[in-house]
Amino acid sequence: MERRLEPELMDEPARSQAYARADFSEVNDRFVTEFLSRCPNASRVLDLGCGPADIPIRLARASGAVRVSAVDAAPAMIALARQAVAEAGLDDRIQIIEGRVPGLALAPKSFDAVISNSLVHHLPEPVVFWAEVARLAAPGAYVHVMDLVRPDSPERAAKIVEANAAKESPLLKEDFYNSLLAAFTLEEAAEQVAAAGLGGLWPIQMDDRHWLVSGRV
Ligand SMILES: C[S@@+](CC[C@H](N)C(=O)[O-])C[C@H]1O[C@@H](n2cnc3c(N)ncnc32)[C@H](O)[C@@H]1O
Repeated sequence: MERRLEPELMDEPARSQAYARADFSEVNDRFVTEFLSRCPNASRVLDLGCGPADIPIRLARASGAVRVSAVDAAPAMIALARQAVAEAGLDDRIQIIEGRVPGLALAPKSFDAVISNSLVHHLPEPVVFWAEVARLAAPGAYVHVMDLVRPDSPERAAKIVEANAAKESPLLKEDFYNSLLAAFTLEEAAEQVAAAGLGGLWPIQMDDRHWLVSGRV
């Protein structure tokens, strides 16, 4: 199936709110647990495309050593993220930054770890994402990036939505379906990582709908 792009930024208030209300606890907890099991000593962590900041909050609660710089380009998401971080009482350890990949106003090589979940499929040209990861990760930093796998057909995408989001709102299900159609195959993700010079990293399939690139640069 050909890739079908979806809007890059999640800046419609109704859609960003539907996303923030959805239950991603299982996937996001697994993301944090996997990351900390591989990179237990991270302190300066960058999260690209943080959305409503559910992952930074879970990460900061799970590890007292972590400080997160969490970036998103959509003002509607930034507002939700700031509210969630304040409600969690984590303003001192999670900095929410409005900014767009590529070209973030952050110092090169300044992070011990770069994490991201479900940003890559939003990008028309994902090469800019991997180049930004390579620019901002310090030597020996840990990279932990997860995204969706594009299924073989629209019918398969619809089945994945029903299997994993049956109880979510119609808006969330529509966005999930469109995200699956915009996502990359494992082979495409592997080409992107290699083209960015992140040799030694490659995507592995995690479950019916996710790939993960995880390792040191
Ligand atoms: C599907 S959400 C994922 C949010 C979060 N990482 C999570 O796992 O819940 C993708 C986010 O990436 C943001 N985004 C898309 N393109 C971006 C870019 N070029 N730079 C920064 N953020 C971007 C969107 O606004 C959206 O909030």
